[in-house]
Amino acid sequence: MSDTTRAKKKLFIKTYGCQMNVYDSARMADVLAPLGYAPSDRPEDADMVILNTCHIREKAAEKVYSELGRLRALQQARGADAGRQLIAVAGCVAQAEGEEILKRAPQVDMVVGPQTYHRLPEMVAQVERAGPGRGVMDTDFPEEDKFDRLPEESAPQGPAAFLSIQEGCDKFCTFCVVPYTRGAEFSRPAAQVVAEAKRLAAQGTREVTLLGQNANAYHGESLDGRGEWGLGRLVRELAEIDGIARIRYTTSHPLDVDDELIAAHREVPELMPFLHLPVQSGSDRILKAMNRRHTADDYRRIVGRLREANPDLAMASDFIVGFPGETDDDHAATLRLIDEIGFVHAYSFKYSSRPGTPAATMGQPVPEAVKDERLQMVQQLLGAQQKAGHQRTVGRTLPVLLERYGKHPGQLVGRTPYMQSVAVEAPAHRIGRIAEVEILSVRGNSLHGRLADATLTGEIDSLSPRTRIEESTAV
Ligand code: 5AD
Ligand code: SF4
Repeated sequence: MSDTTRAKKKLFIKTYGCQMNVYDSARMADVLAPLGYAPSDRPEDADMVILNTCHIREKAAEKVYSELGRLRALQQARGADAGRQLIAVAGCVAQAEGEEILKRAPQVDMVVGPQTYHRLPEMVAQVERAGPGRGVMDTDFPEEDKFDRLPEESAPQGPAAFLSIQEGCDKFCTFCVVPYTRGAEFSRPAAQVVAEAKRLAAQGTREVTLLGQNANAYHGESLDGRGEWGLGRLVRELAEIDGIARIRYTTSHPLDVDDELIAAHREVPELMPFLHLPVQSGSDRILKAMNRRHTADDYRRIVGRLREANPDLAMASDFIVGFPGETDDDHAATLRLIDEIGFVHAYSFKYSSRPGTPAATMGQPVPEAVKDERLQMVQQLLGAQQKAGHQRTVGRTLPVLLERYGKHPGQLVGRTPYMQSVAVEAPAHRIGRIAEVEILSVRGNSLHGRLADATLTGEIDSLSPRTRIEESTAV
């Protein structure tokens, strides 16, 4: 194949679910870049479409099939001249239902799991040889380490980047498919993580979010190769890298919050004061049935220790309402816990039965209408807390990492240390910098502010609105 044909291939990836999938999608693009595939945001003229799927809640598989139906219609509309369009299903639905996908959707060329996507080039070669209708599947949990086989990142991720440090889960919460779709816990060696963080920093990344299904269960090989590091130690090392000004990690489990991590929250200023620590329920009975292996009071104590280490720490969490057997009292306990802790952000879900998980055959199902009602109550309380968290920032001057253009010309968008999104009038060349921003108001789910530094404000004022428009569309 000549280089000119190589440059022509377009790759469209649709990502569902968690940040781990966002990271994996970027790495799939890296794997396919040497084959001539360049990212595109238009499925209709893409030479390859990848659906990177999520299996965490029900209807996930149905969503994939309806998306495949839409793609089929698109493919038919393309006509023969457009050439063959390869379709791949990746991610956790692929892992869980690979065979079924090939049976139900014969236009799918490749089914690839979260641990095998480094093998995509071989799969592409195979399907190109085999021709349409002969789908290939690779959903192994291979011996080799995917991370050893992946090429270096081909495109800069930007000022805020994801970095996968840990995958899989050994916790086996009774409602969750992750231990089955992502496999056993595995931590990348610190040397690999540090090298990737240095490359990111060299490309202009200022903030890294360390990703893992249980990022704080991290126990990777230490830099000298003689022992293991926990997350707290890894964070200290990453904080030393020139250019890395902010570190976050997500997501985490209460049981894996150890002394070293708490100390990092106290002593490492680069570790941002925002922590996503899922609790799922405030009822001990339900926590036990969920196999969370901690009580509501354990969670209170852990948060207490973290807040003692860093009084500025803002908490976020996940909640499930309507777990089998959940009573009104259990639900009230969840509301109490939310009320006591106070969260600036949270995800809340109705329990969704996942085939093959222990909870699927447990206890008395909660009627859908009751689940709806409980979800509404939880979301109302969490919504009010989030709003209050936003409101508390008004009048404060906060460091904001300016990440990208805003909706309006001349406006940039960034995040506070507490992950709140802020829109601010600022020149485009400030993207990638941390600016002191005075928060002026709350607008819906985000904040609005102005650069607090007088000289910078002067710099904006000296720009005509026209220049601002050009600046914001030029780069
Ligand atoms: N039903 C509802 N929510 C679930 N989650 C995981 N599995 C289920 C399920 N079966 C939620 C949990 C978890 C988040 C990623 O998704 O709250 O923390
Ligand atoms: Fe799922 Fe529990 Fe593991 Fe989180 S800790 S990925 S909820 S099994």
